[in-house]
Order: sequence, then C-alpha cells, then structure tokens
Amino acid sequence: MTKNAPTRYHPLQVTFHWLTVVLLFAMFPLGTYMSRLPNDTGKIALLTAHMTLGSITLIVIIARFINRFRLPRPAHATAGNAFLDWIGKIVHYLLYTLVFLMAVSGISLSLQAGLLPIIFGGSGVALSADFYVFVTRMLHGVIAPMLALLVVLHVGAALYHQFVLKDNLLSRMWYKKKNRRSIK
Ligand code: HEM
Repeated sequence: MTKNAPTRYHPLQVTFHWLTVVLLFAMFPLGTYMSRLPNDTGKIALLTAHMTLGSITLIVIIARFINRFRLPRPAHATAGNAFLDWIGKIVHYLLYTLVFLMAVSGISLSLQAGLLPIIFGGSGVALSADFYVFVTRMLHGVIAPMLALLVVLHVGAALYHQFVLKDNLLSRMWYKKKNRRSIK
C-alpha cells in the first residue's frame, strides 16, 4: 500500500459491503426457516426469494472482490498486534471465499435437484422429497454455520476497533460527508 492510500473505501465498495450485509442477514433466517418446512408447493415462494437473493449475493461478492484490486483502498487496519492483524487479513479473505462457496453450493444444489424449471419455469413438477439426498445440500448446510461464525468474528473485530481501540474504523466503510454550504 502506498503512502497515498485513501483513508476510506471507495463509495462503490462501501455500497457493495452494506449490500452484502443486508443480503446475508436476509439469507440466513430465510434459508434456516425454509429448510424446516416440508418440500411441498408452499415452499416455492420462499425458495424463489432465497435463490434470487442468493444469486444476487454471488454477483455482488464477485464484483466486490474484483473492485478490491481495481480501486484504491485504505491500508489494512492495525490492532497493534501482528498476530491479530494477520488473523484480520485471513478472516477477510475467508469471508469472500465462504460467501462465494455458499452461493455456488446453493446454485449447484438447485441444479442437482432440478429446481430451476420448478422455481423459475413454473413446470409444476413436485420438489424432491428430501434435499439431503444431494451432496450439495450437505455442503450448503455445513458452510452456513462456518460463514455465520466468521461474520460474528468480523463484527466483533469491527466493534473492538470502534469502541475499545476508538480508532473510528467504521467511518472507513461509510460515505464521505458532503461539505455543507448554507443556502440563502
Ligand atoms: C450467500 C448466499 C446464501 C446464503 C447465506 C444461504 C443460506 C442458506 C441457509 C442458512 C440455508 C439453511 C441451511 C441449513 O439449515 O442447513 C440454506 C438452504 C438452502 N439454500 Fe441457500 N444460501 C445462499 C445462497 C443460495 C443460492 C444462490 C441458492 C440457489 C440458487 C440457494 C438455495 C438453497 C436451497 C435449495 C436450500 C435448501 C432448503 C431446504 O433444505 O429446504 N442458496 N441457504
């Protein structure tokens, strides 16, 4: 990182970050709730919402990852401890990887279970009685708690910076305030 590194993330990356947060916070409860329901027609609306939002999440995370290298970004935040800083970097890369794998395993499951014509094509074919016969369902279910744990770690670290170290780290992941001019 050069000494001319910006002090905050680019507005596009800020938008992608908070969009990812909103999408993940919708996807986790939706996925967990719907997986407890029987695989009948009553599940189709929820699957439609989950699969659509999940696919949008994949596009957002790929766009964010590409722009991470394309756009200037601030230097990695330090917690004043080399080990914690190293963990911080690993967690960031793992977050990208697990969100990606979560979405890809979901898409693979929908292909394996023949969900696309049922959900988006209105084929009227019945859903598989049990998605767990597909290995991709296992993967989707195993990655979910790992991703949830990482999100908790990530939020914990952000709060530690903000309220213990008091370095106002969160301001880097928000938009620059416009200079206010008085309108007469
Ligand atoms: C990052 C994006 C995603 C997140 C965070 C997410 C989250 C979840 C969660 C938490 C579950 C329940 C897991 C369990 O309780 O074992 C689930 C189930 C499921 N997800 Fe996703 N998902 C994502 C993307 C996708 C995508 C892109 C698709 C398909 C296009 C998809 C299709 C499914 C299906 C078919 C189920 C199974 C529901 C059932 O067992 O009845 N997911 N998802």
